[in-house]
Amino acid sequence: MKPLHVVILAAGQGSRMKSSLPKVLHRIAGKPMLHHVMDTARKLGAERIHGVIGHGADQVKAITQAEDVQWAMQEQQLGTGHAVAQALANLPDNGCVLILYGDVPLTRASTLQQLVSRVTDQTIGLLTVTLDDPTGYGRILRDDQGAVIRIVEHKDATPDQRAITEVNTGILAVSARHLKTWIPELSNANAQGEYYLTDIIAMASKAGVGIEVTQPDIGFEVQGVNNRLQLAGLERWYQQQQAERLMSEGATLADPARVDVRGDLTVGQDVLIDINVVFEGKVALDSGVSVGPNCVLRNCHIGADSSIDACSVIDGATVGQHARIGPFARLRPGTELADHTRVGNFVETKKTVVGEGSKISHLSYVGDALLGKNVNVGAGTITCNYDGVNKYRTSIGDGVFVGSNTSLVAPVSLSENATIGAGSTITRDVAEAELAVARGKQRNIAGWQRPAKQK
Ligand code: UD1
Ligand code: CA
Repeated sequence: MKPLHVVILAAGQGSRMKSSLPKVLHRIAGKPMLHHVMDTARKLGAERIHGVIGHGADQVKAITQAEDVQWAMQEQQLGTGHAVAQALANLPDNGCVLILYGDVPLTRASTLQQLVSRVTDQTIGLLTVTLDDPTGYGRILRDDQGAVIRIVEHKDATPDQRAITEVNTGILAVSARHLKTWIPELSNANAQGEYYLTDIIAMASKAGVGIEVTQPDIGFEVQGVNNRLQLAGLERWYQQQQAERLMSEGATLADPARVDVRGDLTVGQDVLIDINVVFEGKVALDSGVSVGPNCVLRNCHIGADSSIDACSVIDGATVGQHARIGPFARLRPGTELADHTRVGNFVETKKTVVGEGSKISHLSYVGDALLGKNVNVGAGTITCNYDGVNKYRTSIGDGVFVGSNTSLVAPVSLSENATIGAGSTITRDVAEAELAVARGKQRNIAGWQRPAKQK
C-alpha cells in the first residue's frame, strides 16, 4: 500500500454563506466542517493532510493547527486543478493522493476506503453519484464499453451531455506520480477559464490508466455546503444517524428528531432521553440513566440508574449510580457526586466532591467543597468561597446537618455529625457533634405600636 496523503481543498470564499467566517469553519454537530473532513482522513490512516487554503487562511490555520497538517496557499482561486497544484510539491512520489473538500463534510470513511483501495499505478478511483437533477455538476462520459473517458463540466457540456445523470462528486484518489505528470499539463481553455482538476480523467484514459468508479451509499455523503440551508440539511442528517445509533444501542428517545449530539455520546442499555437534550464533548450514560427534557450534558459521566431531571446543565462532572439531579440543577466542572446523592432544584455546584447518600436539595451554591457521606445541606446554603481575590475551601464531614439559609465563610471546616442552626453565618470551624448557631438572637416585644399615619 502506498502511503496515503489527503489533499483538502478549502480556499474558496463561500460567499453564499453571507458570513465573515470562512465557509469551512461553519460547524456541523458543533465541529467545523473542515475538522470533520480531517478526522475522516485520520480514520483512513492518512500520513499527512494537505490543506489548500486562501480566503480566511489565517482564521482557518488558527483553529486547525495539528502535527499532521501541512498548509498550501492558493492566493487566487483559479480552479480545482490549480488548487491541487499548490500542494503538489509537498506530495511524495510514492504516495496515494485522495482529494477531498472542506465543504463536503460527511463522507463516510468506509466509502473513501473503498475508493482508495482501487488506486494502483494502472488505475485511479473516482467517486460519482447519480442525481435526478444533475444541473451544475460535471458529467461522467463513458465509452461504448462503459469505461469512463472524460468529465465535462456543466458549463462546457452539450445538450446531449447535460442529459447524463451520473455526475462527478469531485472526490478522487490517484497515485502522486500520475498527479505530478498530469496537473502541470492542465489548460484553462474552457467556459470558466479555470484549471479543472476533472481534466485529469481524460488524461488518465488516454494514458491507458483505468478509471474505477465507486458510489456512496447515500447522497448526503457527497453533499457539499454552499449556503446555510444546506448546512442545516446536513446537520439534520448527521443527527438522525446519531439518533438511530443510540436507539440501536438500547436508548429510548422520546423523539429521535429532538436530540442533538455534538461530540461522542456512549449509552448503556435502557437509557431514556426525553426531548430537546443536547450532548456536547465526551458524554457517557450508563445503563438505566434517564435524562429529562431540555437538559445540556457536556463532558460528563452519569452512573447507572441515575436520573437527570428537566432543565439541568451538567458540565465536566461525574455522577455515581442512583443519583437524582435536578430539575434545574447546574453541575459545573470538578463536581464529583458519589452514589445515591441528590442535587435538587436551583442548586449550583463547582469543584465539589459529594460523598455517598448526601443531599443538597434546594437553592444552594456549593463550590470548592468536600462533603462526606450522608450530609444534609439545607435550602439556601452558600459556600462563601471567594473574597474577591482568592478562593477558599469548605470541608464538611460525614453526617453533618446544615440548616437552611446558612453561609459557610471559607476556609471553614465542619467536622463529623456537626449541626448548623438555620440562618447561621459560619466563620469558625465546628468540632465533631457540636451545634453551631451564629445569628442574631430573637427578641419578642409585647404591645408593639406600629407607626400610624397622621390624619
Ligand atoms: C466541481 C467539479 C465538478 C463537480 C463538483 C461537485 C471541477 C472543475 N469541477 O465543480 O465536476 O461536479 O465540483 O461539487 O473540479 N476550490 C479551491 N480553489 C479553487 C477552486 C475551488 O479551493 O481555485 C475549492 C472550493 O472552495 C470548493 C471546491 O474546491 O470547496 C469545489 O470548487 P467549485 O468551484 O465549487 O467546483 P464546482 O464548480 O462545483
Ligand atoms: Ca461546488
